[in-house]
Amino acid sequence: MTANKEWILVLDFGGQYNQLIARRVRECSVYCEIRPYNKITPGEIRKLAPSGIIFTGGPNSVYGEGAPQTDPEIFSLGIPVLGICYGAQLMAYQLGGQVTTPETREYGKTETIFEQDCPLFRDLPRQGITWMSHTDYIERLPEGFQVTAYTMDCPSAAMQRLERKLYGVQFHPEVLHTENGTQMLQNFLYTVCGCTGDWTMRRYAEAAVQELREKIGNGRVLLALSGGVDSSVCAALLAKAVGSQLTCIFVDTGLMRKNEGDEVEAAFAQWDISFVRVNAGERFLSRLAGVEEPERKRKIIGEEFIRVFEAEAKKLGQVDFLAQGTIYPDVVESGLGDAAVIKSHHNVGGLPDHVDFKEIVEPLRLLFKDEVRALGRELKLSEVLVSRQPFPGPGLAIRVLGEVTPEKVALVQEADAIFREEIARAGLDGSIHQYFAVLTSLRSVGVMGDERTYDYTVALRGVTTTDFMTADFARIPYEVLERASSRIVNEVKHVNRVVYDVTTKPPATIEWE
Ligand code: XMP
Repeated sequence: MTANKEWILVLDFGGQYNQLIARRVRECSVYCEIRPYNKITPGEIRKLAPSGIIFTGGPNSVYGEGAPQTDPEIFSLGIPVLGICYGAQLMAYQLGGQVTTPETREYGKTETIFEQDCPLFRDLPRQGITWMSHTDYIERLPEGFQVTAYTMDCPSAAMQRLERKLYGVQFHPEVLHTENGTQMLQNFLYTVCGCTGDWTMRRYAEAAVQELREKIGNGRVLLALSGGVDSSVCAALLAKAVGSQLTCIFVDTGLMRKNEGDEVEAAFAQWDISFVRVNAGERFLSRLAGVEEPERKRKIIGEEFIRVFEAEAKKLGQVDFLAQGTIYPDVVESGLGDAAVIKSHHNVGGLPDHVDFKEIVEPLRLLFKDEVRALGRELKLSEVLVSRQPFPGPGLAIRVLGEVTPEKVALVQEADAIFREEIARAGLDGSIHQYFAVLTSLRSVGVMGDERTYDYTVALRGVTTTDFMTADFARIPYEVLERASSRIVNEVKHVNRVVYDVTTKPPATIEWE
C-alpha cells in the first residue's frame, strides 16, 4: 500500500480485464490495488478504508459450483461498490435478485440506452455503444434497485441503489469500445466515491523515496542493472532515496545493441551511486563459440550472467538489500502471493543464490509499465532509457541465427542501428512497438558493381502489439523499408540482401530464435 488516502479496491473475480480496470482507474489519477476476492475480509476492508470498491468480471456463473462469492457484509460497509459484468451479477444475486442464463449470449459492441438519472452516466449521451461479453444476465433486480440502462437483449444493462451507493453495469466500461467508458469510471470515482485525483507520479516518487529511506536506513543495496526500463527506473529511484548506499552492477554481455553499453553507463554517470560495469563480452562470446541451438544459447547466457554478477557481488561482501525491478503485472499474475515475489528473471534466467543479502526491495511493485516510464521521466532519467523498447536478455545472441561470432554480432549491430535510425527519421518509433534486425546466417548470390557476391541476408522485423503475447507485423511504408534496405547493403559489409518479416505472432514468434 502507498500512503495515498484516496484509493480504490479492485476485487478480482478472475476477469480477463482486471488489470485494465486498474489501469483505467489510475489513468483517472486515483490509486487502486487489485486483490483476489477471497483474500480480504469485510473487516479488513473497513480498516483499510478504500474510497470505493470495484468488482471485476469473471468467467463463472454465480450459480455454478464453487463460483466466487464475497461476504455480503461488504455491501453494508457504507463504501460505494461498482460491480462490472460478473461483479454486477454477483451483487444482484447476493442481495436477493435473480440471475439467469438466457438462450443467446450478448457479445461485442451493443447499442445501449441509458434511461435513468444515474451518477455514472452524468453528462453523457442517453444512448451509446457499450462492450458486452456475458452469458448470464440479471433477470430480476434485488429490492431497492432500479434499472438505469438496457439493450435489446438485456433489460438490465445497468442498475443502481442510489442511497446505498451500489452500482452495477453488465457491460465493460474499462474496454475502449465502450463509448465514454473512462468517463463512467471517472464519474464513479469522483462523483460517487468523492475522490479528487491525488495519484500523480510526483507524489508517488516523493512517497516512495521516503519509504525507501525508512526501510533501508544505512543499509547497502545491490541492483542488477540490465539497462532495460524497469531496472533503470528502479536504479534512479534508489539513487534518489539512498544515493551512495546503492551499488548497480551492469553486466555488459557484449550482446547489446550498438553503443548501448556506453549509453547505459553515461545515463548513470550523473548519479552519486556506485556503478560497476563489467565488460564481459569476450567471456560470453567464448562460451557461445560453436553453439548453434537457440535454447542452449539462452541457457549459457543465463548461467554466465549469474556467474559474472555473483563474482562481482561477492567483492562487495555483505549487502543488506537486493533490489529488483518487479512491476505490478508480475505481482498480479503471481496471485499477489504474500511473500515477496521473486521474479523468475526472464532476462537472466534466475536470481543469484550465493549473494549474501537480508531482504529484497521492489520499489516498482505497485506500478504498471507506463507508470514506470512516467516515474523515470519524473526522476529525470535519460529519455534513451525511459523510452527503450523491450530487448531480450540473451540480446543479439538470439538475433544472430545459429552460431554467434564477434563478426556476426558487429554486423547485426550495424544493420540494426541503421534500421532504428530510419524508423526514427520517419517518425515511426512511437507507433511500432518493437523493431530490429536479424542476421539470418543464410547466404545468397548477389551482384555489386560488376562483381558476383555471396553474402548474408538480413531480416528486418517490426511489430505492433499490446502485450507481446500476440503481435501483428508493422505496416512500415515501402519508402522507409527501401531506405533502410539500401543503406544496410551499402554500409554493412557482407550483407547483399534484406528481407522484411511479414508474419504475425502466432504462428511466428517476435524474435527469430
Ligand atoms: P517472442 O519471441 O517469444 O517474444 O514472441 C516476446 C517478447 O519477449 C521478448 N523476449 C525475451 N525477453 N528474455 C527477455 O527478457 C528472453 O529470453 C526473451 N525472449 C524473447 C521479445 O523481445 C519480445 O518482446
